[in-house]
Amino acid sequence: MKKIQKICCIGAGYVGGPTMAVIADKCRDIQVTVVDVNQDRINEWNSEDLSQLPVYEPGLDELILRNRNNNLFFSTDIDKAIDEADMIFISVNTPTKTYGIGKGKAADLKYIELCARQIAKVAKSDKIVIEKSTLPVRTASAIKNILQNTNNGVSFQILSNPEFLAEGTAINDLTYPDRVLIGGDIHTEEGKQAIDLLSQIYQSWVPQEKILTTNIWSSELSKLTANAFLAQRISSINAISALCEATEADVTEVSRAIGFDSRIGPKFLNASVGFGGSCFQKDILNLVYISRSYHLDEVADYWEHVILMNDYQKRRFAEKIIKTLYNTVNDKKIALLGWAFKKDTNDTRESAAIYVADYLLNEQALLSVYDPKVTEGQIFTDVNRLGTRTEKENEQRLQVHNEIYDTVKGTHAIAVLTEWDEFIDFDWKRIYESMEKPAFVFDGRNILNASKMKALGFIYHGIGK
Ligand code: NAD
Ligand code: UDX
Repeated sequence: MKKIQKICCIGAGYVGGPTMAVIADKCRDIQVTVVDVNQDRINEWNSEDLSQLPVYEPGLDELILRNRNNNLFFSTDIDKAIDEADMIFISVNTPTKTYGIGKGKAADLKYIELCARQIAKVAKSDKIVIEKSTLPVRTASAIKNILQNTNNGVSFQILSNPEFLAEGTAINDLTYPDRVLIGGDIHTEEGKQAIDLLSQIYQSWVPQEKILTTNIWSSELSKLTANAFLAQRISSINAISALCEATEADVTEVSRAIGFDSRIGPKFLNASVGFGGSCFQKDILNLVYISRSYHLDEVADYWEHVILMNDYQKRRFAEKIIKTLYNTVNDKKIALLGWAFKKDTNDTRESAAIYVADYLLNEQALLSVYDPKVTEGQIFTDVNRLGTRTEKENEQRLQVHNEIYDTVKGTHAIAVLTEWDEFIDFDWKRIYESMEKPAFVFDGRNILNASKMKALGFIYHGIGK
């Protein structure tokens, strides 16, 4: 069996960058080239100043420093990288469609199709093409169709190898994965050989028993299913958090009590202001769309409620702020701590903070925002993208700060929206003294010590407390 010498990854984003950095680090004899159409992104990956990398992820800078320009390259020369590679990972974005049939639910596969067409056009030798992006079940048949109709004698094997990393812990997740999933054509020799070649790459650092192989459709569907199950746990505990607030039960205690049941387990039971990120909502909407397209309406309704509960949780949090501040936040200053969808990432896609900000802006609040890793430009892009009001109106009502004590000065309330560790260690006494009184804190992540906050004088509200 030939050995893989060159890998190309199309898409230098949150998945492509970190994943290929780890492969290059673990397989020094393989040349890995990550390509992207976005020249700025590639420049950032190649930047001497590692704080300019487009993805903030603990441990990523070290990996880039160690491997870049040794056996890890970032480039916009897509054709050259495709031509040279034995194995091509497609790791481009697959966002929810914003137009046409399936608008608001189906995955937009135009970037995937463009990749397949480019591979078909450029390839002069046999290739293994790997779906690394999260795709609707049965996408591989479309990719196969495009690749097999080139009439240039090149043979392609298509594998599904979904990525399970979570942002903020990507390097650790990639280094010590719970499992690696490879779906392929298990009924042909060529298919089995392709699976083996990919498996060998992972075996450089992943124990063989953690590498699972399935048929390609199971692999595609497992990724959507894993995200749906994880998000379902959060929506389930968030639903209970609303009931806790009505009954004096405490959601942290409930989570702990149920998490001790080994059948339930303790992870992913943190009640919050609502889940965000580029994956959960998009992938469940996709699952809903696929289920409906097979006329499985009950299945579609079931999963759709995970999203509806999440929408409710974000709205409920904002409404609680408004109600508690005597039913009006008009011209009141409110500080939002955190804009990223979780800690240890600069990613803001679908962050709950965007929607909470939008609700509060609708009520004419004045917002001051602080996030240690998200830029002012990104924050304005996020609120402007909703199109709820003009960019000028957003600028008049929202200010971004790069220092906490400026952010909170003169505010009536603080809303904690991301669980950044540094928030816990702020000088909360100093913060209390600089705020309007009564000083409210709405802890959307339950990270602050409630009794300590109350002792300082704050009126403190957690989630599900
Ligand atoms: P991303 O938006 O960060 O990166 C995608 C990159 O692909 C962009 O830089 C874009 O310019 C590039 N691209 C798009 N079309 C291209 C083309 N035709 N040629 C070359 N480059 C092209 O997206 P991401 O977060 O890395 O996600 C990628 C895929 O992985 C998605 O399907 C996503 O669902 C899945 N996934 C994401 C995560 C996550 O935590 N972000 C985890 C697991 C799986
Ligand atoms: C998720 C999946 O975890 C990962 O396996 C998949 O590959 C991509 O999608 P990600 O979106 O990066 O990863 O982060 P994750 O840790 O899953 O958090 C998603 C959202 O859920 C965040 O907003 C987080 O704050 C929230 N969350 C998570 C909760 O509100 N409560 C929890 O208990 C856990």
